[in-house]
Amino acid sequence: MGKHGIWLIANWKMNGTKDLVREFCTALADTPSSVNIVLCPPFPLLGSAPKGRVALGAQNCHHKSEGAFTGEVSAKALKEIGCTHVIVGHSERREQAGETDALVLEKAQVAIAAGLTPIICVGEKEGQDVAKVLTSQLAGLKKLKAGSYLIAYEPVWAIGSGKTPGTAEISAAHRLIKTALGSGTPVLYGGSVKSNNLREILRISEVAGALIGGASLDSSGMREMVKIAEQGVKEFA
Ligand code: PGA
Repeated sequence: MGKHGIWLIANWKMNGTKDLVREFCTALADTPSSVNIVLCPPFPLLGSAPKGRVALGAQNCHHKSEGAFTGEVSAKALKEIGCTHVIVGHSERREQAGETDALVLEKAQVAIAAGLTPIICVGEKEGQDVAKVLTSQLAGLKKLKAGSYLIAYEPVWAIGSGKTPGTAEISAAHRLIKTALGSGTPVLYGGSVKSNNLREILRISEVAGALIGGASLDSSGMREMVKIAEQGVKEFA
């Protein structure tokens, strides 16, 4: 299967400034549109992104569509300010905010109902059985309509560590996800992606793109990664 439009999702976590949002969008403004770029900065910075080449995503949303939830952000409000995507179930939220698979499913459902595409993160912790963890994390996601979401496979031990699984491991995890959720489900890889390993990762036929944390804060490195992804679109089309 050819790669039609590789996804590069920039997850800034709790980093970045208004100026960096503008710098990022300017640096990528003239890159080929065959690579889908989504910038996910912290909530207050979403409004600083100029409309255009770079799509906008949030890093989280609440699991209810609206209501008495002080300090929370709804998928509907994100849609209204121009977001197209929202990351749900990132391992940092699973770990730090106690998010469960059931809650992640609710967030994905509320996001889809609001017209957003959720980027649903799954992945095992160090030493865990990959197939077992993925099978249980994916079980509830079968309820979602095919084509309405993206999956990001992020082994927790690979996030921010500089370590990545081998290509055979990434390929096997992605195959397992596609077997569970349907072969058409776009599955991205995340965890210590940088310009010096992106090419090798995108060469794995099941990989539809990358969720990039730390390295996405560097606009020129990101530009380089878009170039690599663009070559990948041609190479694998
Ligand atoms: P990293 O983070 O690229 O800094 O490893 C990825 C992520 O947490 O989404």
